[in-house]
Amino acid sequence: MGTISTLISEAEIQQKLTEMGAAITADYEGKDLLVVGVLKGAFMVMADLSRHIDLPVEFDFMAVSSYGASTQSSGVVRILKDLDQEIAGKHILIIEDIIDSGLTLSYLIKSLKVRKPASIEIATLLWKEGIQRVPIDVKYPGFSIGPEFVVGYGLDYAGKYRNLPYIGVLEGNPED
Ligand code: IMP
Ligand code: MG
Repeated sequence: MGTISTLISEAEIQQKLTEMGAAITADYEGKDLLVVGVLKGAFMVMADLSRHIDLPVEFDFMAVSSYGASTQSSGVVRILKDLDQEIAGKHILIIEDIIDSGLTLSYLIKSLKVRKPASIEIATLLWKEGIQRVPIDVKYPGFSIGPEFVVGYGLDYAGKYRNLPYIGVLEGNPED
């Protein structure tokens, strides 16, 4: 197994989520908020961030998968699990672990917009600076990172490392 160097510590993540949660709480005061998590990667951000949202929110999940190589998005997205509920007239906050090319999210937003929600905004823990192939407007951004492939805190390499409480970079050959 390759070694992992810490890029963003557990304490830094929790501090950032506290700030994001406070901003979300202020913005959605008095509104019906449905928080939508994108599985599997967003499960940890969702659990920790939502504990900092001091509102009576509802939760739902979507699962998507992009075809192609394990470390690059192909832009072709398949919905593996759709939302359980109607979203017409609701305020939707999509929670993501990471935005890389932006292709997954732009596809998701397009498919949700036609269902006529009152609003759709995005919260993401990480986004890769300057390499989005489609423009994505992120209202609640966490950390900007470089183009490196990261793991941990929900993010996987070949299905592993999601349980790390921090964000790390795989050094060397992960197959070793
Ligand atoms: P997209 O390129 O923005 O469509 O990214 C799609 C998905 O690729 C993300 O939701 C992640 O699941 C995955 N992904 C992108 N970059 C990384 C990374 O650095 N580590 C782990 N997964 C990633
Ligand atoms: Mg994801």
